[in-house]
Amino acid sequence: SETVSMNLADSIRAIPDYPRPGIVFRDITTLLGDARAFRRAVDELVQPFAGLKIAKIAGIEARGFILGGAVAHQLSAGFVPVRKKGKLPLETLRATYALEYGTDEIEIHRDAVQPGERVLLVDDLIATGGTAEAAVNLLAGLGAEVVAACFIVDLPELGGADKIRRLGVPVRTLVSFG
Ligand code: PRP
Ligand code: HPA
Repeated sequence: SETVSMNLADSIRAIPDYPRPGIVFRDITTLLGDARAFRRAVDELVQPFAGLKIAKIAGIEARGFILGGAVAHQLSAGFVPVRKKGKLPLETLRATYALEYGTDEIEIHRDAVQPGERVLLVDDLIATGGTAEAAVNLLAGLGAEVVAACFIVDLPELGGADKIRRLGVPVRTLVSFG
């Protein structure tokens, strides 16, 4: 048995003043590059969802693809990409969300999920929750049952996790940075 538990927070780097002065960027590339930390993060993310008959993982571009693929494999679920606009080749549903300055759009293929399918949303980090809210709206627009949304990192002062919970979607996060 382990005498010292790995702390996932210690495998995430804080980069001051990126991408702009005053922002502390939480960089998960160090976690992804550490075999034990990556496995631990995926194991802990999926833990409540094993046995809940998740049909598909929806992963948000770009870092949500890395985690979502691993989570999908672990839960024996399919994987559906939620992409930035203009990347998907067939008919899509599109949602606009707020950035600090202006807006951006994400898309999902209209045939990516069937009505009533149980979907788990995955991304690396939730900040304002604007991206995740747009993804929940796309999935709901296709008739999916969004079972939960999970993230390695929460920035709770930005209120994103609470915003998603107010939509009626349970949220799981592993590490919080104030
Ligand atoms: C980051 C992060 C989330 C989103 C969180 O992605 O991976 O998807 O921002 O922010 P929010 O909760 O305030 O919406 P980013 O937009 O930097 O895209 P990338 O993964 O393609 O770099
Ligand atoms: N790290 C990574 N992605 C982000 C962050 C951050 O601190 N804030 C908003 N998106």
